[in-house]
Amino acid sequence: RIQSIDALEILDSRGNPTVRVTVALSDGTVADASVPSGASTGENEAVELRDGDAKRYRGKGVLRAVANVNTEIAPALLGADPRDQARIDAQMIELDGTPNKGRLGANAILGVSQAVARAAAKASHLPLYAYLGGAGAVRLPVPMMNVLNGGKHADSNLDFQEFMIVPHGAPNFVEALRYGAETFAALRGILRKKGYATSVGDEGGFAPQVKSNDEACELIVAAIETAGYRPGTDVAIALDPAASSFYRDGAYHLERSGQEVKSSAEMTAFYAAWLDKYPIISIEDGLDENDWDGFRAQTAALGGRIQIVGDDILVTNPQYIRRGIREKTCNAALIKLNQIGTVTETIEAIQLCRDAGWGFVISHRSGETEDPFMADFAVAMGGGQIKTGSLCRSERIAKYNRLLEIEAALGGAARFGRR
Ligand code: PGA
Ligand code: ZN
Repeated sequence: RIQSIDALEILDSRGNPTVRVTVALSDGTVADASVPSGASTGENEAVELRDGDAKRYRGKGVLRAVANVNTEIAPALLGADPRDQARIDAQMIELDGTPNKGRLGANAILGVSQAVARAAAKASHLPLYAYLGGAGAVRLPVPMMNVLNGGKHADSNLDFQEFMIVPHGAPNFVEALRYGAETFAALRGILRKKGYATSVGDEGGFAPQVKSNDEACELIVAAIETAGYRPGTDVAIALDPAASSFYRDGAYHLERSGQEVKSSAEMTAFYAAWLDKYPIISIEDGLDENDWDGFRAQTAALGGRIQIVGDDILVTNPQYIRRGIREKTCNAALIKLNQIGTVTETIEAIQLCRDAGWGFVISHRSGETEDPFMADFAVAMGGGQIKTGSLCRSERIAKYNRLLEIEAALGGAARFGRR
């Protein structure tokens, strides 16, 4: 039974406040969870409640969300069985009373939802991945590792937010992590030799002042080869342009790199040309979050060759994922717990993807904490894909290290990726 729930204002990896929740059970079990925070957020995401008090943390404090946990959510859930995740989540949604969790805050609600899951797992003497995923939770995800940062995540001159390496040819997770880390180290060496900065952006990828978006892909291919891997076969490329961030007045403005302005169809033609030049296997948010028609055309044109992932356009919301499936908007969804705000609704979103034959990628946010919840969650859901940043910055590495532990614990039962 839940005996107490306490929230605390802590800091995330960008130094902004976020919520940590600790749940204690009557049997003595104690568990906590911390909530991440995005920068290039979709406009239909659940509401992250911020204080707006300009005198504290430039308005970004979360004391109201913390108070909502301590004074409203906690009293409502005391005595509940932590294994009743669906009921507890439904109760918080009802208590909030808004369609977007805007009253209590999705950061308050998700913190409780995740801490409750972890407490229930502990009380059941199960690792979190096994508690949430059952005995069949044995699949380690292929990581999409964000090695070059642009857009809203860095001051580089890349319009596209994320250039990721995907070590999908590795036999297992431990080797995939090594392929990725060696390629990342090779990339550092290449950047240095070319006189580029090797400082990193929010997700731990380099943020150099390269000459073009094309050069970013060329550098990555060179790094894969320098590390001794075959581009495309061992290590492929995935992109998250996060195109909403450079879309305005009905057009896409690639102005950081070259002042080009493109229509939706021209963007898709641009990506199609890249597929012929670079070993790209996945593109996320290649178009603006409201460009549903463009997405459908892009999926029709490229969806047979690569994965087309919806992030800002779908926001892990079953309502938008249903529409996306109906309209063939994408063929995969990015899954972020804090876009929707409860564990139960996130699992519901994933179930829709499974039923439709869509892929899904469990994802971090650009503002993270040391909490590796999503690593366990990725194994529990079994989709075979995770996106959790580069090969440096401890808030990213915490997730990779947790996946190493899980693979080791599973031993011979472990599976890897989508095979
Ligand atoms: P965000 O970026 O966490 O800043 O929203 C991640 C993404 O766009 O996938
Ligand atoms: Zn994205």
